[in-house]
Amino acid sequence: MTKIAVMVSGGGTNLQALIDAEKAGKIPHGKITLVIASNAKAYALERAAKAGIESTVVARKSYESQEAFDQAVVDTLRAHDIDMVILAGFLSILGETVIKAYPDRIINIHPSLIPSFCGKGFYGLKVHEAALERGVKVTGATVHLVNEIPDGGRILLQKAVAVEEGDTPEVLQRRVMEQAEWILLPQAAELLAASLNEEE
Ligand code: GAR
Repeated sequence: MTKIAVMVSGGGTNLQALIDAEKAGKIPHGKITLVIASNAKAYALERAAKAGIESTVVARKSYESQEAFDQAVVDTLRAHDIDMVILAGFLSILGETVIKAYPDRIINIHPSLIPSFCGKGFYGLKVHEAALERGVKVTGATVHLVNEIPDGGRILLQKAVAVEEGDTPEVLQRRVMEQAEWILLPQAAELLAASLNEEE
């Protein structure tokens, strides 16, 4: 069984989708055993508690350097025997130390069709604001492996979502979550968990 840590910063609706999928038997090769939040106020922590999943906070601002923060993340993951990591709206940057400790074992969900509207500065609502500003008619979500380039790792799954007349960033964000993110992320979690199970 692949032990999964989910890293979060905000509302945690993608974490909820993962919890629900696991309960429904859709992630048979993985088990979410830890939630790491970047801040103590993340509502995602309450979702973890409700689901009976252990959680902890590792905040970038509590560490003097990127390196010290990265080391704290790796130490936490190792202490819980974690095999793979899912970034589900985790907004702190993870540096080389974490990426090297978990090569091809970290996935991220991004709310656009990469390579559009991605990279540094594109997160959360900003992504949808940029898509609407550019006037695209189709957007979507992407799950990719995490490497040292922000949003630059190998693409695992993508799903397109229509932009509709009169969309606000909030309305578009919700549609992309419902029609793409909450479906793709559990699927990608099972894909990676199953492939890691085979390696054991
Ligand atoms: C999601 O839309 C996710 O794709 C996005 O943040 C939101 C988190 O929502 N992630 C990024 O923008 C990463 N660059 P959630 O906390 O409700 O899952």
